[in-house]
Amino acid sequence: MKSQVQPKLIIHGGAGSSLHGKGGLEAVRQTLHAIVEEVYALLLSGANASVAVVRGCQLLEDEPRFNAGTGSVLQSDGQIRMSASIMDGALGRFSGVINVSRVKNPIELAQFLQNSPDRVLSDYGAAELAREMQIPSYNALTDLRLQEWIQERQDNFKRTMAGVIAEPELLETSNAGRGTIGVVALDTYGKLAVGTSTGGKGFERIGRVSDSAMPAGNYATNYAAVSCTGIGEDIIDECLAPKIVIRVTDGLSLQESMQRSFAEAHDNKRDFGAIALDATGAIAWGKTCDVILAAFHDGDKIGDTLELAGGTQVGSIS
Ligand code: GLY
Repeated sequence: MKSQVQPKLIIHGGAGSSLHGKGGLEAVRQTLHAIVEEVYALLLSGANASVAVVRGCQLLEDEPRFNAGTGSVLQSDGQIRMSASIMDGALGRFSGVINVSRVKNPIELAQFLQNSPDRVLSDYGAAELAREMQIPSYNALTDLRLQEWIQERQDNFKRTMAGVIAEPELLETSNAGRGTIGVVALDTYGKLAVGTSTGGKGFERIGRVSDSAMPAGNYATNYAAVSCTGIGEDIIDECLAPKIVIRVTDGLSLQESMQRSFAEAHDNKRDFGAIALDATGAIAWGKTCDVILAAFHDGDKIGDTLELAGGTQVGSIS
């Protein structure tokens, strides 16, 4: 197949309060930019959007400072349960796993399910799938996440959500962020795909289901693709990712679609962020919280949103 389109890429490592200290910000910037560089090179070499999305999610899941894969937050009972999904816009096909434990890269299970008649599996079924795929058992726990949970247990689980960024200097903050990772890609063939992965909110009830393995948090068509991060319940209530995508499908520009959706979210006092691409190559991000940890490649260069702090904002590059 002949390449015709300039590929585009945007990724995120969560959303929430501003990063404390320049050290934290620069470390997150370096990590996000390195991942953008690697995944964009893959797109330039002709990889399709779904392959690029899976690779980007693996790299973000493997980075312990983000709340997905290694470095996932602990639930109320001290266990890690992760959720991930992928949607191929060209195929119009969603697949995912909910509350899976002891795997390194939940996105690999979601990818496998793209070609299965049963495309969303939860806990026991997802564990069985990992066994069938002969994925080795893996402990995603990090010392910082354990410390965070112990501290929270001493405080009787007062926080509504764990910190998105696992940095020692941030453990003391009461509201460090909203953790999830996500990747949205437009490939050289003009096809879109999106993937999202998370350890959840942290400290949640056993059995709570994250938006990250629902279309509400991860959705793509041939027109647009969106990955969300933030409080899952808010994302579900706004049905955020499909809302943005459907607005684009119905003729709004990506920028207008994001603006309208985030204005509604602001009025409804929601707490989240989202990244998006459309089929024309427009790149966009939006947030109702302080900051969204996103980085992108616009075809010429890498940019990021790390210093765009301060309440509801939408940004885009056409
Ligand atoms: N957005 C991640 C979660 O709420 O689980």
